[in-house]
Amino acid sequence: MTTGAVCDAGTEPVPADELRSVLRRLVSGVTVLTTEHDGRPWGMTVSAFTPVSLDPPLALVCVNRATTTAGHIIEQQRVGINVLASDQAEISGRCAEPGTPKFLVPSDLADWVPGWKTPRIAGSLVSFDTTVDSLLDAGTHLVVIVRIGNVATASAGHPLLYGGGRYLDISSIHQSIRPTQHQPGART
Ligand SMILES: Cc1cc2nc3c(=O)[nH]c(=O)nc-3n(C[C@H](O)[C@H](O)[C@H](O)COP(=O)(O)O)c2cc1C
Repeated sequence: MTTGAVCDAGTEPVPADELRSVLRRLVSGVTVLTTEHDGRPWGMTVSAFTPVSLDPPLALVCVNRATTTAGHIIEQQRVGINVLASDQAEISGRCAEPGTPKFLVPSDLADWVPGWKTPRIAGSLVSFDTTVDSLLDAGTHLVVIVRIGNVATASAGHPLLYGGGRYLDISSIHQSIRPTQHQPGART
């Protein structure tokens, strides 16, 4: 393995631009967070989603404090987390456009299911209906810890991936991800 550059673990923090360009090399899944603004459904693209705890059921998302969406989430105290499928790059791009209102249109939304309290994106691989549990200040970002109330899953599909500043389609090289039976001894 060759080393392109070595970080100096000195006292100076890594400049934000440098860190951003290094982080572009990571590959991640893509979610659209949903909430409401002025009584209308709203969505923002986020890759920083991590499941945290099974019992209680907790997850976290990291949202830049400078986004308008951060304010809407704090106001509503509810967040839908929709894990996008490989054919959903369009809605991801739309919900990531800086400085534009991110109201969702009816065709973006799945049918309401009883008990569900956040907008659900049609065609998502998995959707989580959550309430805000706690907020942590973390520099430029807010770490939003959420409590998962409801879960909906598609019967099959491939995840949308993002890496190197573009969407990646791995559907041709891996098997479709289907819900599986619980494997004894398997832990998440
Ligand atoms: C694939 C992808 C992943 C993103 N992940 C995040 C993220 O994890 N957290 C975040 O704050 N912004 C993330 N963004 C950027 C926001 O979607 C973008 O800044 C958005 O325009 C903010 O909307 P708002 O300011 O209108 O609320 C991501 C963008 C893309 C395209």
